[in-house]
Amino acid sequence: MPNHPFTLAEGQPVADPAVSTTLPIYGGGGLTTLGDTLLLETLAHFNRERIPERVVHAKAAGAWGEFEVTNDISSLTSAKFLNGVGKKTPVLFRLSTTGGEKGSADTVRDVRGFSVKFFTEEGNHDIVGNHIPVFFVRDPIRFPSLNRSHKRHPSTNRPDWTMFWDFHANQPESVHALMHLFGSRGIPDSIRRVTGFGVHTFKMVSADGRFRYCKFHFRPAQNITHFSDQQATRMAGANPDFHNQDLWDAIARGDLPVWKLYVQVMEPEQAETYGRALFDITKVWPHKDFPLVEVGQMTLNKNPENYFAEIEQAAFSPSNMVPGIAMTPDPMLQARMFAYPDAQRYRLGVNYTQLPSNRAICPIHAPFERDGRGTMTRNYGGEPNYVRNSLGSGIPSQTVSNVRHTERISQNAVLGQNEIMVDDEDFIQPRELWNRVFDEAERRQWVSNLSETLEGVPDQLKDAVIAMFSKVDPRIGQLLEVKAKNSSRL
Ligand code: HEM
Repeated sequence: MPNHPFTLAEGQPVADPAVSTTLPIYGGGGLTTLGDTLLLETLAHFNRERIPERVVHAKAAGAWGEFEVTNDISSLTSAKFLNGVGKKTPVLFRLSTTGGEKGSADTVRDVRGFSVKFFTEEGNHDIVGNHIPVFFVRDPIRFPSLNRSHKRHPSTNRPDWTMFWDFHANQPESVHALMHLFGSRGIPDSIRRVTGFGVHTFKMVSADGRFRYCKFHFRPAQNITHFSDQQATRMAGANPDFHNQDLWDAIARGDLPVWKLYVQVMEPEQAETYGRALFDITKVWPHKDFPLVEVGQMTLNKNPENYFAEIEQAAFSPSNMVPGIAMTPDPMLQARMFAYPDAQRYRLGVNYTQLPSNRAICPIHAPFERDGRGTMTRNYGGEPNYVRNSLGSGIPSQTVSNVRHTERISQNAVLGQNEIMVDDEDFIQPRELWNRVFDEAERRQWVSNLSETLEGVPDQLKDAVIAMFSKVDPRIGQLLEVKAKNSSRL
């Protein structure tokens, strides 16, 4: 604690912030008056302490760390933070649940958000991914509805499995993500033990201007382990902040969590014939066709000193990309590039990029984006505020090239109206997961996890859900049917 007297917000010393100042009255006692600036400031600031929580991914833990390159990939990307073995870059990490509010329990079955901000010499680069490799929808217009169906019912104000299954039975492109969600990885037992996937297809661009398509993957050095439904439910009551505590305590005792970063790489020539899984985030690229290439490792080494300032005010966005990594026509990625900065302008204000957790460590020169509420810098002083000025700052830099690439893709890789419709191809990868990745114990657990959520769902909808999973494999339908009969239908 600083050895300094308490003050008002603008520095005037106060005797005791726990005692309001009254106007003495004749005969004893005192009157509270509007002249007590300390009291007014205290009450007024308290009234304004809350800011909007994130509309999704509100509950989270976060920490600072460092990324180090362990395998040079300069032949793939010119991004300086990925070039040169041993190169180190500071990072900010945030791991969230998706559906619950800021005060909700950590140990719920949900997709975890996996956000990393790399503070590079070329500006901030963010990977804003999830802990499973695929997503529920591939048309961004469905994203708000997806989330509302997972959140509270407008009437009962409770999460509602009927709403949840009604959305998914009518949007069966989510079947692959649901296979992951109801598997054991749906409830991690620790933040330190989760995988992280960039999910989207990005481009890596090398110094010679060539590009390749790529996907980012984080894998924990710690074993991947999880909670059963029963353990998670018990923990949600006993310690709703269990994951936050686990991460904080591990870092505080020096047991630092580590993740390796990998990329999958696809040559543009391969992309020409790859079809729609190229940009469809309900699908993965099989590792046997696109093996993981090691890039580096991330170590978390410092807890936040102030959660609100450092984690709540952090603003991650897939639109934060450095030269050498670029966006693709993936429609979900395109939509996210709008949605995040828009949400952050609303949540944190137009100058959110100046907040300590978001401020780039390299020089920032954006005099054409200045002013606005809450400006925290010298605001570019007297520099002209219009482009192409001839007074010093208006001449564009010749050192930065503005590379544009022609996408090398076949027409059917771009998701048009027809490709948004669900067809047999959508069930192939979920079937592989069920038959080849899950063992028998995992299959039985999956059926048990999911069937619990069908209790109380109307029979007609239950049948639609069972029919959807029967298309993955008829045995899933049979197992669900048996479970359903043994519970509510008897
Ligand atoms: C948070 C929108 C898809 C991962 C958010 C936020 C919005 C949003 C508005 C809150 C941002 C903030 O207030 O700072 C969308 C839209 C999507 C989409 C419109 C699709 C069209 C996805 C996908 C992933 C994802 C596909 C994973 C690959 C996350 C994560 C966060 C987040 C990790 C939390 C960021 C943080 O840690 O602060 N999303 N999202 N979202 N989203 Fe998405």
